[in-house]
Amino acid sequence: MHSPRMAHSGPRKKRPRQMGTQMASPPQDIKFRDLVLFILEKKMGSTRRAFLMELARRKGFRVENELSDSVTHIVAENNSGSDVLQWLQVQNRRASSQLELLDVSWLIECMRAGEPVEMTGRHQLVVRRDPAGSPSPEPQKTPPPAVTEISPYACQRRTTLNNCNHIFTDAFEVLAENCEFRENDGSCLAFMRAASVLKSLPFTIISMKDTEGIPCLGDKVKSIIEEIIEDGESSEVKAVLNDERYRSFKLFTSVFGVGLKTSEKWFRMGFRTLSKVRSDQTLKFTQMQKAGFLYYEDLVSCVTKAEAEAVGVLVKEAVWAFLPDAFVTMTGGFRRGKKMGHDVDFLITSPGSTEEEEQQLLPKVINLWERKGLLLYYDLVESTFEKLKLPSRKVDALDHFQKCFLILKLHHERVDSGKSSQQEGKTWKAIRVDLVMCPYECRAFALLGWTGSRQFERDLRRYATHERKMMLDNHALYDKTKRIFLKAESEEEIFAHLGLEYIDPWERNA
Ligand code: CTP
Ligand code: MN
Ligand code: MN
Repeated sequence: MHSPRMAHSGPRKKRPRQMGTQMASPPQDIKFRDLVLFILEKKMGSTRRAFLMELARRKGFRVENELSDSVTHIVAENNSGSDVLQWLQVQNRRASSQLELLDVSWLIECMRAGEPVEMTGRHQLVVRRDPAGSPSPEPQKTPPPAVTEISPYACQRRTTLNNCNHIFTDAFEVLAENCEFRENDGSCLAFMRAASVLKSLPFTIISMKDTEGIPCLGDKVKSIIEEIIEDGESSEVKAVLNDERYRSFKLFTSVFGVGLKTSEKWFRMGFRTLSKVRSDQTLKFTQMQKAGFLYYEDLVSCVTKAEAEAVGVLVKEAVWAFLPDAFVTMTGGFRRGKKMGHDVDFLITSPGSTEEEEQQLLPKVINLWERKGLLLYYDLVESTFEKLKLPSRKVDALDHFQKCFLILKLHHERVDSGKSSQQEGKTWKAIRVDLVMCPYECRAFALLGWTGSRQFERDLRRYATHERKMMLDNHALYDKTKRIFLKAESEEEIFAHLGLEYIDPWERNA
């Protein structure tokens, strides 16, 4: 998505993604210490076994590579109880009441639940007799979970930060980003939509059967999912992570103020590292890029929730010094419950002030911080807002509010947690902050628009246009059939106008 927003608020993702470690399995924390699993390779195959082992470990299960004495649960696929017993005999291990022999359906249910689920007769491969002597029911195949219909619009899905399909969504995000760098907008969108829909699933995709009925998964996307299920990784993603252009763009756009155009230029000029770019005498940098290089380390290291809260206090102090009735709301990723962000976003609005006072607030706040020595960089964008203008048709359009993109100096002592990545000698951290000032009547629309996620916002607009013949942006909602603006005091009212079930901010992580 080559949006002009880049020019102001910098690249979308500031964290350099760990390259080349896509599917590596770091030592995982074991959450469920009472169970020691062993997955039988026989009839399952080694790639599927490796995939399930990796997945189970990621979910906090202890999985052994070998059949050791500590194993408590043996999981098998397409094996009967007597098959497994026979195999155990060959291994010189006797079945005992301490050793559970289970069908893979049990493990799959555990993966979905994210914790061990109860073992019932249908999971157990060996029919146990209860004390009364009646056998438990015959083992049978687990019915597939009832999947309620999933909407192709992110605004009709609840997407929390509990993503149980990271293994797939990470892959699609790399591919989407690569398409973005190559300005292949169509494929970029397809990969982003795929990642987005997978993030909303309450279960982990374990087999291709699980993808049935899920929208936004085209053939290309499905073939990648299949490859990851079978091999644990996608060869295409691996190739992208090693691709020179991808790596360079990733690096260049990690600098505040560097977008696709500049990256393209530097790449064509043969630059591959930031140090070479930085030390080149012929390149001209914008003020924004100069600040980006100057505070690079701080800015790539992401903002923690505690730091965001501390910035919130700074913003409120400054805003209330001039407009005591103003509302200051933290928006963006932190409002959606994220623990980390690339910046901190705030929406400011004041019920009692005149247009003039409204327009003067941000310049006054900037001035105050400048005097206090807290202002490391700022770019104030004046409002181009017109009350009677129709909402924009473009899903990625910029809004017209007055706003300011800043880098603030946040002193460590202002941060609650204390242990904010302190460097020796330096007593502060540079933090990216976005401030938006909106007229009081627009506040619900501005809040909805600035809460994101970007994919959620796109789909809200797409939904409004295609399903409701309405136009929505950060300022207003317009009903094209009735030819009227629909007013709203809250986000709930906007959802209601659109005929959508309300989705809470923490469920908008599409
Ligand atoms: N946004 C917007 N217009 C802009 C910039 C941002 O409407 N010119 C909205 C987007 O919908 C986005 C939200 O503001 O979802 C916050 O933007 P941003 O800070 O870029 O993303 P976050 O979701 O907060 O992610 P991060 O934690 O990385 O900051
Ligand atoms: Mn943000
Ligand atoms: Mn932002």
